[in-house]
Amino acid sequence: MKKIILPPFKIKAVEEIKFISKKERIRRLEKAGFNIFNLESDDIYIDLLTDSGTGAMSQEQWAAVMRGDESYAGSRSFKRMERAIQDILGFKYVLPTHQGRGAEHVLDRILIKAGQVVPGNTHFDTTKAHIENRKGIAIDCTISETFCPETYHPFKGNLDLKKLEKTLKKYKSKVAYILITITCNTNGGQPVSLENIKKVSKIAEKYKALLFFDGARFAENAYFIQQREKDCQKKSIRKIIREMMNCVDGMLMSAKKDAIVNIGGFIALRDKMLYKKLFPINVLMEGFPTYGGMSGRDMEAIAQGIYEGTEENYLAYRIDQVHYLGEELTKKDIPIIKPVGGHAVYIDAKRFLPHIPQSQFPGQALVCEIYIEGGIRTVEIGAVLAGRDPVNKKNIYPKLELVRLTIPRRVYFKEHMDYVVQVVTEVWKRRNSIKGLKFVYEASVLRHFQSTFKIKNN
Ligand code: F0G
Repeated sequence: MKKIILPPFKIKAVEEIKFISKKERIRRLEKAGFNIFNLESDDIYIDLLTDSGTGAMSQEQWAAVMRGDESYAGSRSFKRMERAIQDILGFKYVLPTHQGRGAEHVLDRILIKAGQVVPGNTHFDTTKAHIENRKGIAIDCTISETFCPETYHPFKGNLDLKKLEKTLKKYKSKVAYILITITCNTNGGQPVSLENIKKVSKIAEKYKALLFFDGARFAENAYFIQQREKDCQKKSIRKIIREMMNCVDGMLMSAKKDAIVNIGGFIALRDKMLYKKLFPINVLMEGFPTYGGMSGRDMEAIAQGIYEGTEENYLAYRIDQVHYLGEELTKKDIPIIKPVGGHAVYIDAKRFLPHIPQSQFPGQALVCEIYIEGGIRTVEIGAVLAGRDPVNKKNIYPKLELVRLTIPRRVYFKEHMDYVVQVVTEVWKRRNSIKGLKFVYEASVLRHFQSTFKIKNN
C-alpha cells in the first residue's frame, strides 16, 4: 500500500476563487492578446503561474507580522530575521532586499565588470538579465542530460565539471563569480547534488573564484538530496542545508519561495569585506540595511517562514503534491520533464504539439488552451520567454519548450490537482486541432510580459 503523505496543517482562513464560463474565458483571453500576464486574477480559477510570493502564510507568521518593528534603523525585526538566517544557513552577514532580483542587482553592481563572465547551471531570467545589464555574460555549464526531457537523472541541475573548469581556464580573471541555482528553475526545478556542490566548491577554490547560490528553493533542493543521494538518507534536512552552505561564499535569496512569504529577499555572506562593499549599494538601491525594501513585518514573516520552509514534514508533503500531479499526468501519456521537479511540473510542449514549429510558439499556444479549457493559468518557458539574440536580433529557440504548472505552497488541495489533470487531458485529446500563434505586438525587452498575439491560421 502506498504511504499517504498528509498535509501537516489545517485551514484557518480561506480565499474564494471565481469560476467563469468558457465563453467568457475565451473573450477575456482574446482581450488579453493571448498573453496570460494580461489576465486579471478574477479571470482565473486555479493560478499556477508561479510559486513566488503566492504561498499561504501560517498562523505563526501572521502572529509575527503583528510584532513588526518599523524603525528605519536598528529594527528588532531585522535582528530576528538575521538570527534565523544565521541559524539555518550559517552565514554571518545579511543584507535585506525587496526580493530576489534586488539581491542580484546589489551583488552584480559590485562584482561584475564589462566583459566578465558568470558560469553556472542555467541562470534564471532575471539573474541573466542582471548579469547582462552589467555587460557580463552568463555561461551555462549544466550537464547535457538536463536537455533530454525523457532521460532520468536524479540531479539534472548538476553542473558539468569539465565544462566549468574549461570556462574558468579560458576566462581566468574575467570570471566575476560562479553561481549555482538550487533548484534549477529554468530546467524544470531540478536539484543539484551535494556531491556536485562540493566538487564545484573545490574547483572554485582552485581557480580562486567566488561561489554563490541562487537559493530561492534551497530547502526543496536539500529534500531531494536527502531522498536521492547516497549517504544522505540519515541526515536531517537542516544538516544537509548547512553542508550545502558550507561550500559557498554566500547566497542570493528570493524569500518569496522557500521562506513562504509574499515579498522579500536577502544576500547572505560569510566575508565581512564583501559585506562592507555591498552595504552602500544596498542603501542606494534597496534601503538602509536593517530593512532593505521590506517592512519590519515582512522580515518577521521571513524569520518564521525560514524555519517552516525547512521542516521535513512540510517538505515531504510539498514535494509529494508536485510529484502526484506529475505522476497523474504521466498516466494520461502527457509528456512532461522527468523526473518531476520541486516546485512545478513542466509539460514538454514540443512533444505535446509536434505539429507547431517553435517559430509559432507551441508553449504559449498550450498555455492559452489550458486556460480556455479550464480557467487554469500556467506559464510558458520557451521561445517567447527566450526573446531575441541581442547581437543578431534573431529569435532564440531554446532546446526546451516548456509549459510550467507551478504549485504555490500550502494553497491548493489534491482535488485541485485532479482537476488540473482532467483539464490538461481534455486539451491533450484535441491537441491536433490546436494552432500556433504569431505576434500582434512584440515588446522589445522581457517580451513575454507585454507582447500580444493572435492565432496563426495556416
Ligand atoms: N532566482 C530564481 C531561481 C527564481 O526562480 C527567481 C524568481 C528569482 C531568482 C528572482 O526572484 O522574483 O524574488 O525577484 N522566480 C519567479 C518564478 C518569478 O516565477 O519562477 P524575485
